[in-house]
Amino acid sequence: SRREKQTDISHTQIVTGNKMSDRTMRRQVLLFISVLSLSSVLGQVSYSIPEEMAKGSLVGNIAHDLGLAVKRLKSGKARIYTGDSAEYIELNKERGVLLVKERIDREALCGQTTPCALHLQITLEDPIEFYTVTVEISDINDNAPSFKKDEMKFRISESAVVGAKFVLERAMDLDVGVNGLQTYTLKPTENFHLKLQSQQDGSRKVEMVLKKHLDREAEAHLSLTLTATDGGDPQLSGTMRIDISVLDANDNAPIFTQEVYKTSIMETAPKGTILSTVSATDVDQGSNGKVSYSLTNTLDDVPIMFEIDEDHGVVKLTGNLDYEKAQHIEIYVQASDDGGLTDSCKIIVEVIDTNDNHPSINIMSKTNAISENSKPGTVVTIINVQDPDSAENGKITCNINEHIPFMMKTTSKNFFSLVTDSDLDREKASEYNITVTCSDEGVPSLSSSVTLTLQISDVNDNAPVFERSSYEAYIVENNTPGLSIFTVKARDADWNQNARVSYILEDSSVNGVPVSSFVSVSADSGVIHAVRSFDYEQIKDFQFRVKAQDGGSPPLSNNVSVKILIQDQNDNAPQVLYPVQTGGSLVAEMVPRSAEVGYLVTKVVAIDVDSGQNAWLSYKLQKATDRALFEVGLQNGEIRTIRQVTDKDAVKQRLTVVVEDNGQPSRSATVSVNVAVADSFPEVLSEFTDFIQDKEYNNNLTFYLVLALAVVSFLFITCLVVIISVKIYRWRQSRIMYQSNLPVIPYYPPRYSDTLGTGTLPHVYNYEVCRTIDSRKSDCKFGRAGSQNVLIMEENWRM
Ligand SMILES: *[C@@H]1O[C@H](CO)[C@@H](O)[C@H](O)[C@H]1NC(C)=O
Ligand SMILES: *[C@@H]1O[C@H](CO)[C@@H](O)[C@H](O)[C@H]1NC(C)=O
Repeated sequence: SRREKQTDISHTQIVTGNKMSDRTMRRQVLLFISVLSLSSVLGQVSYSIPEEMAKGSLVGNIAHDLGLAVKRLKSGKARIYTGDSAEYIELNKERGVLLVKERIDREALCGQTTPCALHLQITLEDPIEFYTVTVEISDINDNAPSFKKDEMKFRISESAVVGAKFVLERAMDLDVGVNGLQTYTLKPTENFHLKLQSQQDGSRKVEMVLKKHLDREAEAHLSLTLTATDGGDPQLSGTMRIDISVLDANDNAPIFTQEVYKTSIMETAPKGTILSTVSATDVDQGSNGKVSYSLTNTLDDVPIMFEIDEDHGVVKLTGNLDYEKAQHIEIYVQASDDGGLTDSCKIIVEVIDTNDNHPSINIMSKTNAISENSKPGTVVTIINVQDPDSAENGKITCNINEHIPFMMKTTSKNFFSLVTDSDLDREKASEYNITVTCSDEGVPSLSSSVTLTLQISDVNDNAPVFERSSYEAYIVENNTPGLSIFTVKARDADWNQNARVSYILEDSSVNGVPVSSFVSVSADSGVIHAVRSFDYEQIKDFQFRVKAQDGGSPPLSNNVSVKILIQDQNDNAPQVLYPVQTGGSLVAEMVPRSAEVGYLVTKVVAIDVDSGQNAWLSYKLQKATDRALFEVGLQNGEIRTIRQVTDKDAVKQRLTVVVEDNGQPSRSATVSVNVAVADSFPEVLSEFTDFIQDKEYNNNLTFYLVLALAVVSFLFITCLVVIISVKIYRWRQSRIMYQSNLPVIPYYPPRYSDTLGTGTLPHVYNYEVCRTIDSRKSDCKFGRAGSQNVLIMEENWRM
């Protein structure tokens, strides 16, 4: 290129020479002439003119320069010969100058050849002269560089490497030299620069070199302008558009719009519920920009629980959520384009708890029974309640059924204790069914319950209580010993051993005799047995206390008073007190012959130690010497006359009076009453002599003595009867025994052992009840040999 420049410089000198002064030019012309004169050519002259001069422009004063007169040109018929080339130059013979005849285009004439010259011959005749004229055509910058095409199109991948070359079309400039194409510029220069390379033929190769990566995503189309400039003055230039379409390369990964997506879902959400839609964009084109989504969780069960729509990034629930297993789930989503570039994001799923768990009740420790004397606050059961739900849904409260003496206490979180709330009483409620209901505070609330059965164990806090505050029982006298009189019964509200009542005869005495010799109490049945046969005539009633004692420890007891009333039996015949029956003695009542009708002869006085009906006596005349003379008062036993006594009536009258009580069967006694019907004692005496001989009874006393005594005794007996009556009345009122001289033989049944002195029979002892029709007879039937004593005793014990 340096050489080129030098060439240009010499060329410029030539151009510059064109503008030299006429003198310098002339000197040159002279030099040429001198050279040409050596040959047939007489002269040679050269001119230099720029191209594109106007027609008629002066090229040179040829006549002058050849040293010829203008007339010679005319006379010599000077002609210009241009050869093959067109006639660009004409000779003006009048003026002797060369003029431009046609427009001269250097480029048309010479193309790229330099220097470009027109060779002319001027011939003259007379004499023939031959001159050579060279007109050098110098270039002017009349052509701009130009490109064949307005536009070049390239399709360049954005992945093209830096340094990649793209050959551009060259520009053409018809001008030569300095006016020819000088340089190229490419704009903008951001991505490419130009590289010009000279080639062997002198032309230059124009290349566009990538100096910075293309980015389709930033600029999909580039438009560059290549400008070719020449070196003329003024400079001319030509341009070409370079249109670059940047082809996509998969140089962009998909990018999620968010790195983390947050969403929440109810744990009861049905399958198919849409959780979230993720979205990633890929700025690449076509398949390079087509994003597909996938889940990348591998270890947990997220791939089973969720699915993602490959094309649209919609994440759906496909499984069942359980807040209790996982409160937060992280789903990893990957977006990838077809080129394999990826991005990932995370969906944080917050599972919202719903109240889907019932509280579960676990009994930690449990008492099946507590004592009824447990203090309030005694812990019965500790339970633990679990509810895996959260917050309110897992907040537990426990309650128990109402109206029971228990309450729930919160011990610590999730622990509850069931404690007694007040005093317990097994006798009121021996068992409680305690239903513990635990519920959470969710809406709606869920609950579960357990029922605990709690036994209240007994404490001996109740004494036995007799059914009655006191007992009264009757027993008919002459009973069989061992006869059960009646039963006392006490109840104990406690349970089992604490309620096992034993009956104990309280030690006491009746008229100085231990009560245990009268009665015994069967310890476990409370049956009161007569220990011996009672005699109403000796004892009418007695009282004792029976204690009921339970089997608790310590035992509790209670006592009751029992009164046994002995009932009378008609076991005593009436006894005649008057007239006194003395063996052999004779007693007679005197009846004067003058006695009126209804004369009270005497009164039969009898008593019966029995009582009531059994002692209600009636008197009847059984036998009489003269039945028509006497009668006996049925009630009072008075013997009266019923007719006038006559002289015919025998002195000696004999009456037999039967005294009968009203018992069933009744008992009776007979008494003989002698009556003397006489006016004087000797009369009586004479009569009674044989009367005495005739006597039935073996009397030792004389009738007279008896008679005297009878009169006295009558009054005495009457008094005595009154006193006895009063006393009997009093005895009935009082409960003390009748003072008797009769011996009281204590009776002990077989196997009886009065170790405690209470008269209580051992439990094993079994009485055979003996019933007799008549207490005197002993026709009882005894099944046991050991009971035979009863009979014997009965036989021995007689009043
Ligand atoms: C407790 O429950 C049991 C069984 O259901 C029942 O037999 C019993 O009578 C109940 N007890 C009470 C005091 O309700
Ligand atoms: C019998 O019971 C009464 C109260 O009911 C009591 O005062 C008395 O001491 C008891 N007697 C005996 C011997 O236990």
